[in-house]
Amino acid sequence: MAEIGKDIDRARQLLMEGRLVAIPTETVYGLAANALDEKAVLEIFKAKNRPHFDPLIVHISGIAQAKTLVESFPDKARALANRFWPGPLTILLPKKELVPDLVTSGLNTVGLRCPDHALTLQLLQTLPFPLAAPSANPFGYVSPTTPQHVNEQLGDKVAYILDGGECRVGIESTIIGFESMEPIVYRLGGLALESLEPFTGPLHVQLHSSSNPHAPGQLQSHYAPRKKIVLGTHDQLAAQDHPDAGAIVFRNPLPGIPPRRQVVLSAGGNLEEAAQHLFAGLRTLDKADISLILAELVPETGLGRAINDRLRRAAH
Ligand code: TXA
Ligand code: MG
Repeated sequence: MAEIGKDIDRARQLLMEGRLVAIPTETVYGLAANALDEKAVLEIFKAKNRPHFDPLIVHISGIAQAKTLVESFPDKARALANRFWPGPLTILLPKKELVPDLVTSGLNTVGLRCPDHALTLQLLQTLPFPLAAPSANPFGYVSPTTPQHVNEQLGDKVAYILDGGECRVGIESTIIGFESMEPIVYRLGGLALESLEPFTGPLHVQLHSSSNPHAPGQLQSHYAPRKKIVLGTHDQLAAQDHPDAGAIVFRNPLPGIPPRRQVVLSAGGNLEEAAQHLFAGLRTLDKADISLILAELVPETGLGRAINDRLRRAAH
């Protein structure tokens, strides 16, 4: 098991040595290494058992550091960075040569994000390099939102887990890129479309081309627990007869299933709260003594879109 603590100097030292450190962000925990050190980055892929065609997000302390990594920073992208960094938005920009091809899986764009978490921001500000960090889970599994989640699955593969508590947002960042200057959303995430669109105009969302090997975050099966998942509305799930099922529901428990086998995401019907509890809920049910998970789809608005996206991929 890994050492867990709040010691930024220790995290910094290990990262300087090319080691892996799990870092807290507002979205999910990341598995971080020096983004400019190909050998260190290779360790990330190994630890996660991640295919090399799945590019990594590079975490930076702010716009100034971002500029050192990209060939250009178009006005539209800059406006988004100014408004939403630090925050749950990853922006794809043309990369400079110093960013290793391994990080971007050979693509000429790099995904950049300034995370909104005090500990990790402080760490980034004291490091002489940016941090490549995918979510700190084995490839294809649910992302971690607590240090314990990281420790359970990757504890023997990371040198240190920087403890930033439970993640506030709970689902991964929204990913935006540009094609002939027009913004496209490639992953729904912790920043709602409704927040972005006043700055971008109506957004085109391009989620799954299952044939797109460049962005497996877009693969239809991802973020998946091991147990089978059945999706539906509250009424549809209530009509199911599964004596040994568990359930993850939005506001109200399902009739006929013991409360201890149910996770209520937000009794008050708040989508932010639901997003924050989603992945921990899926992990709890995956470990519970049940044969399948009934999962309620939430309203398709705000963060509800990203929640439903994760549930659909988990069920695929
Ligand atoms: O919230 C987050 O984004 C978290 C925290 C740790 O920052 N990170 C995260 O990383 O979710 P990861 O590796 O689990 O998902 C990153 C996804 C990749 O699967 C890929 O789809 C996409 O980002 N991506 C990264 N760079 C890309 C690029 N240059 N072009 C297209 N997609 C890219
Ligand atoms: Mg991931």
